[in-house]
Amino acid sequence: MFTKILLICLLAAFSVITVSAEKKYNNQSELIDDMLDNVFTCMQELDVNPDVCGELLLKDKDHSDKKYDNCKCLGPCVAKKMGTMNTDTGKWNWARFKELAELMENDILRNESKIMQTHCIDEVNTHCTAGYVFMKCVLQNSPMAQDMVKNYLSTKENTPNEQEAAK
Ligand SMILES: *[C@@H]1O[C@H](CO)[C@@H](O)[C@H](O)[C@H]1NC(C)=O
Ligand SMILES: *[C@@H]1O[C@H](CO)[C@@H](O)[C@H](O)[C@H]1NC(C)=O
Repeated sequence: MFTKILLICLLAAFSVITVSAEKKYNNQSELIDDMLDNVFTCMQELDVNPDVCGELLLKDKDHSDKKYDNCKCLGPCVAKKMGTMNTDTGKWNWARFKELAELMENDILRNESKIMQTHCIDEVNTHCTAGYVFMKCVLQNSPMAQDMVKNYLSTKENTPNEQEAAK
């Protein structure tokens, strides 16, 4: 009898943990609010410097430099908090990604998530490496991301060789 109760308690605890990992969102605004919260939290957790990470948009930088390591972990950090990346294996959870993409009401955002699902599905890379590969993939395939990069770079004071955005 005691064993049975213990087992039930364990199962209940497990389901609570599972529920908190797979947070439920009701609509796009809840999803985006939580995503922004998580981006902010992750930037602090990883001690990310946006100016340094911005250099990953430039072709002429050595992207393997150690100073960019935490930048590559930013996306995965957010994804792990939202359930789109498995915290243990570091693999993307595409089923969860699709589930969250369904909440997008905005045409532009729906379009972006479709581009990601069409071109950037990656079952091989894990953790921070997967984050970097995904970022490169989005920059290569999304006209919106390319525009954002162009705008970002034009607001900075660039030396001529930095004008060329990484594709
Ligand atoms: C999103 O869902 C929450 C909870 O159901 C609700 O309070 C909020 O008003 C909704 N927001 C929008 C923009 O529909
Ligand atoms: C959706 O993305 C495609 C590129 O894949 C682009 O040509 C099109 O203009 C986009 N549509 C909207 C509504 O943003």
